[in-house]
Amino acid sequence: MSKLTILDHPLIQHKIAIARNKNTGSGLFRQLVKEIGMLMVYEVTRDLTLEDVEIETPICKTKAKMLRGKKMAVVPILRAGIGMVDGILELVPQAKVGHIGLYRDPVTKEPVEYFCKLPQDVAQRDFILVDPMLATGGSASAAITLLKNKNIKSIRLVCLVGCPEGVKRVQTDHPDIDIYLASLDEKLNEDCYIVPGLGDAGDRIFGTK
Ligand code: PRP
Ligand code: URA
Repeated sequence: MSKLTILDHPLIQHKIAIARNKNTGSGLFRQLVKEIGMLMVYEVTRDLTLEDVEIETPICKTKAKMLRGKKMAVVPILRAGIGMVDGILELVPQAKVGHIGLYRDPVTKEPVEYFCKLPQDVAQRDFILVDPMLATGGSASAAITLLKNKNIKSIRLVCLVGCPEGVKRVQTDHPDIDIYLASLDEKLNEDCYIVPGLGDAGDRIFGTK
């Protein structure tokens, strides 16, 4: 069964609170999304496997631990997911970056795919799918289906703000996928926006409306 983890570190909560404020402008909002993405991935990668390696310090030879095995890929759901990528790459600079373009049809609220470009060597990689918002869950679920259809096996979904409806949708469609949120909010409103949420993440990151 899919596991839901809420990463409510004090620094993350503090930054989410500033991001939620409607008076926070685009520049600061973008910076916060980047920083929260970085803080989240620090926790999301806690279970990566290490191996002993021989190294030589300026003083002597010794054994040290380094990451073993699979490499990582970060896949933002366009557009808003892009806001989380730079923060993650600061911690995992060797990760490859794929892109999935989906937008939510304003009337049906269903995701519409318009772009997909992924790394080739998918079998060797752990995928982290990122999007600030998990609302109805339609976009995340469609993106996970797309990744699975490319034979990608290791996928974690990382979102800043989610709600019970979105978590339920992903857990129902993809019971094998673990979900990481910085905040599990109360509900969706009649326009399928998260309450209290932080508004339209893409518009706030890119200063569009
Ligand atoms: C937002 C958000 C998610 C999606 C969440 O993107 O970034 O991708 O909506 O909603 P859902 O869980 O109900 O599918 P949007 O479609 O507004 O596109 P944008 O990132 O280009 O702004
Ligand atoms: N997309 C957003 O950007 N925010 C929401 O609250 C829901 C969907």
